[in-house]
Amino acid sequence: MLKAVFPGTFDPITVGHLDVLRRALKIFDRITIAIFENIQKKPLFPLEDRLAFISKSTQVFRTKVSVETFEGLLSEYCKKNQIRFVIKGLRALSDYEYETKMALINREINPDLETIFLVSPPEMATISSSVVRELLYFNGDISRYVPEKALQPIIAAYKKLQSGKLRNNN
Ligand code: COA
Repeated sequence: MLKAVFPGTFDPITVGHLDVLRRALKIFDRITIAIFENIQKKPLFPLEDRLAFISKSTQVFRTKVSVETFEGLLSEYCKKNQIRFVIKGLRALSDYEYETKMALINREINPDLETIFLVSPPEMATISSSVVRELLYFNGDISRYVPEKALQPIIAAYKKLQSGKLRNNN
């Protein structure tokens, strides 16, 4: 059985991520979406919300896709779970530079690890989690950027975060 991990911060999951997952499912039998920490970023949504958005968005693939969180290195996670393949999406040349560097570092730490890059279609080029976060901030429409099943949960969770902030400021 061919297994792979699809890692990221998923803050929140986007239709771009879902597109990468769909493509990867044509290659792999089982995929774990693993939410990791990126120490360069401070996530907006709590871990449990991000996990719930992904679970809802991937329910149709539940026999082949699982979701979990992991604290630590991606290479360690793969070693522990006997996973040899990492899936990453490439949207633009700028992704390539960063992602190949990460792939090389991960392989230096764990020589058995291969990163498989899947190229996103041009219509996904403008999609990212930070676009979604910015639209939420300015009350914009996020519906074309996030999976349908995650739309209402993301809006509800964002409203909850905002009302918590207001309460703390008063
Ligand atoms: N379509 C749409 N958006 C995409 C995409 C696609 N195909 N591919 C990536 N993105 C977006 C992500 O949503 C993210 O958006 P944002 O920056 O606006 O939030 C951005 O592109 C970057 O994605 P990615 O490169 O996957 O970074 P990430 O922060 O989501 O995940 C980790 C990076 C968590 C996988 C990485 O930091 C990691 O492996 N951490 C564990 C520690 C470790 O092992 N480090 C390496 C050794 S030092």
